[in-house]
Amino acid sequence: QKLDMELAAIEKGGYDHFMLKEIFEQPTTIADSLRGRLVLNESKIILSGIDIIQEKLLNARRIIIVACGTSWHAGLVAEYVIEELCRINVEVEYASEFRYRNPIITDEDVIIAISQSGETADTLVALERAKEQGATIFGIVNVVGSSIARISHAGCYTHAGPEIGVASTKAYTAQLAVLMLLALKVAKMKGTISEERFVELSQELNSVPEKVEWVLKNEVDNIKAIAYKYKDAHDVLYLGRGYNFPTALEGALKLKEISYIHAEGYPAAEMKHGPIALVDDTLPVVFVATKDVYHEKVISNMQEIKARKGKVIAVVSEGDEITHSIADDIMTVPVLDEVLAPILTVVPLQLLSYYIGVYRGLDVDKPRNLAKSVTVE
Ligand code: G6P
Repeated sequence: QKLDMELAAIEKGGYDHFMLKEIFEQPTTIADSLRGRLVLNESKIILSGIDIIQEKLLNARRIIIVACGTSWHAGLVAEYVIEELCRINVEVEYASEFRYRNPIITDEDVIIAISQSGETADTLVALERAKEQGATIFGIVNVVGSSIARISHAGCYTHAGPEIGVASTKAYTAQLAVLMLLALKVAKMKGTISEERFVELSQELNSVPEKVEWVLKNEVDNIKAIAYKYKDAHDVLYLGRGYNFPTALEGALKLKEISYIHAEGYPAAEMKHGPIALVDDTLPVVFVATKDVYHEKVISNMQEIKARKGKVIAVVSEGDEITHSIADDIMTVPVLDEVLAPILTVVPLQLLSYYIGVYRGLDVDKPRNLAKSVTVE
């Protein structure tokens, strides 16, 4: 048994949990997912899977993204980014809903399946159905040779390496990295992006690993203190707009999974239509509020929470003094183009959930009732 314990400690590479190790691996796993694909000096993106289905993609009536859990959140980010950059209509579907309704699918549809394990039963069956109806399947999968990888017509692996923690962290940011590459490549193929913007976003994407590293170097002690302060909360609301909305959903999901605290993610403006009734002086509200076109509107949402005595915790861009003066607690990230922000803004929220779970004495690597891969219905 002593040997088992020592082996486990070695596998965790000196970290207390796999989840923490995997959070800290992200500068490397994001870089691994970009390597050989983002070719800055030639201003191009190499994704051979896209070349295989190029005609289908260029003529696609729409793209349907099918996934579950955290992978579904990656799909939601992709919807915002692909519609913006590629001007293709995108729909994001929960695999479990998609497989049982009678969706209208034709051979002009391209389905992007996102899955860490490549074995999620609902996603797999949804793809089988869509394939029967003539759709083209593109898989974004982490596990090489998995069922979803095999059923896809083409695809692109994420290079996150094995993910052991049940709550997904590094697989999610690797999915986002690949989806950003895909959006940029397709936008260039379709001519919906200017060369200047392509170069700008490529350089920004290339800077993501070092910006994630910055958060891991500079923010951990601060986030630990925030986690300690809010560890006994009963409910937490997560709000964001635009590109930051899926991050609010993912932040809330991470907290639920790891700490068993009830958490909800909402589009910040939608708060008026219900969640605002929850706000009192005990409710922490996490805002994903990095600098983007929605920033002023998010600040006014923050003021609405403050006016009702809620506690505001905000993820903000470096140098944002205004938000500093409103929020009770601040988690800072480096400045990054708003399109790519989701890869970075999720990192402080992963850490917040992790430390809250740890302070509550929970088994963060194996939360109760959850499975790493849901291979049954
Ligand atoms: C389970 C895991 C989640 C994961 C989801 C989808 O619920 O606990 O972390 O996001 O399945 O899994 P997949 O392997 O398809 O990405």
